Amino acid sequence: MTPEFDYMAAKAALEWQIELGVDECISETPINRYEVKPQSKKLKFGAGSNIAPVSEIPVIPPVEDSAAEIAGIMAGKCDDLNALRDAMAVFDHCALKKGAKNLVFADGNPSARVMIIGEAPGRDEDAQGLPFVGAAGQLLDKMFAAIGMARTGDKPENAVYITNVMPWRPPQNRDPEPEEIAMMLPFLKRHIELVNPDVIVLMGNTACQAVLGRKGITRMRGTWVEAYGKLVMPMFHPAALLRDGLKKRDAWADLLAIQARLKG
Ligand code: URA
Repeated sequence: MTPEFDYMAAKAALEWQIELGVDECISETPINRYEVKPQSKKLKFGAGSNIAPVSEIPVIPPVEDSAAEIAGIMAGKCDDLNALRDAMAVFDHCALKKGAKNLVFADGNPSARVMIIGEAPGRDEDAQGLPFVGAAGQLLDKMFAAIGMARTGDKPENAVYITNVMPWRPPQNRDPEPEEIAMMLPFLKRHIELVNPDVIVLMGNTACQAVLGRKGITRMRGTWVEAYGKLVMPMFHPAALLRDGLKKRDAWADLLAIQARLKG
């Protein structure tokens, strides 16, 4: 591919065609998918054998560790947040990285008592390289400001630290696939260990799926649970609150529960 027609340009061209209604790929020449392929020759042993001598049999490369295992090894070597960010930046096993403009690692005060985990960057976050800076992020900031906390807070008790399950934007803001979540989970676990918050707030179903292994935010929200030795509060995602204002009452109750727990 020429530099003028790189991955992003190819992706944009493909998306344009999909918008025009293209729903299948047609090649220049027809392919007979019903064609019966000729049977491979029977193996002959002994004289006239057609079995390759052992020296000619290609060596099968060892099965590569799964991406999650590689992520686990890389994450385990990170002793601080800078190292973790660098490790994630060079982790090439997640396809989302190719389509993203930036790695979205985290924002806020790493010594905060509260760590907020969202789903994945959207368009604004991808452009700025920071989590929760679009419309949902502005609401998130207002919600925590209402209980005296901010990502700019200078003390553990008035600050929040914000990250996402996925550090790269999924195309068209689709939900991250279970394999993508599993692959990046070791980094998230290490992230939690390094920040070592008192309380984790899970924003929406994807964060619950990643950290708690289950979904069902409408039932789960508002109830304290435990994960990785931390107190965890599942909440409606701020994007859900923007879509359905009636959910804001529940979100307010959850914020008050967080505030009370931190004071207690
Ligand atoms: N939604 C998320 O879950 N995370 C972001 O960073 C932005 C929107």
